[in-house]
Amino acid sequence: MQNNSNISDGNTYHRSFFLDEKLFEYILGHTSQPDETQKSLIETTSRLGRVSAMQVAQDQGVFLYMIVAAIRPEFAVEIGTFTGYSSLAIAKALPPNGKLLCCDVSEEWTSVASDYWKKAGVAEKIDLVIAPAKETLANLPDDKKIDFAFIDADKGGYKEYYEQIVPRLSDHGLIAIDNVLWSGRVVDPKISDEDTVSIRNFNDHVYQDDRVSSVMLSVGDGLTLVKRTN
Ligand SMILES: C[S@@+](CC[C@H](N)C(=O)[O-])C[C@H]1O[C@@H](n2cnc3c(N)ncnc32)[C@H](O)[C@@H]1O
Repeated sequence: MQNNSNISDGNTYHRSFFLDEKLFEYILGHTSQPDETQKSLIETTSRLGRVSAMQVAQDQGVFLYMIVAAIRPEFAVEIGTFTGYSSLAIAKALPPNGKLLCCDVSEEWTSVASDYWKKAGVAEKIDLVIAPAKETLANLPDDKKIDFAFIDADKGGYKEYYEQIVPRLSDHGLIAIDNVLWSGRVVDPKISDEDTVSIRNFNDHVYQDDRVSSVMLSVGDGLTLVKRTN
């Protein structure tokens, strides 16, 4: 999710809060462009109004596509699907035997995602479960390994999702966590709302976790990548 959304040529796009418009346009101008299905999904989502800001940014979608294409996960999980932009990016990069489990609580928003999975020809690769993500993760078979996870749902749940996923992460697996900069609020001592505090605590938790290596990237609203080291 990004803070600044702009309308350009009928497409809504999202600018990282720390980039000025010119620089962001330059970055988008030198990044692979969304295909027709993705452009249509951006437009459809923008018609939902303010909630459309929850969609990952275009450059972040390409970034997800790249890392998933490199990892070639057999089993990927997305926590927080909304209208499907990030899941489309992930599903398009899966190898032929790859599957994506999408977790969300909204029938309404994910019905848009389901339509676009069909349009993009990736519906067969995706299982959607409508339930709180902690239940969906808890219901996975004990021996089910996760090769890639994208966490982008309720911020108060991040630590629990992370703790559920880390023990299941395969040797080559990665977790990507969105919104870790929370539009810069993480470094503003005057801000102490619940979501900001949750993200700060979550970021500290990951940094102090000696099971993993992590890197916080200034992509979109901040994206942390996590890999198990033991
Ligand atoms: C920021 S949006 C996800 C955006 C999406 N990744 C994209 O690129 O369009 C967050 C989503 O998390 C979902 N969500 C909120 N609480 C949840 C929970 N407890 N379990 C699963 N999903 C949840 C919301 O319904 C919403 O669709």
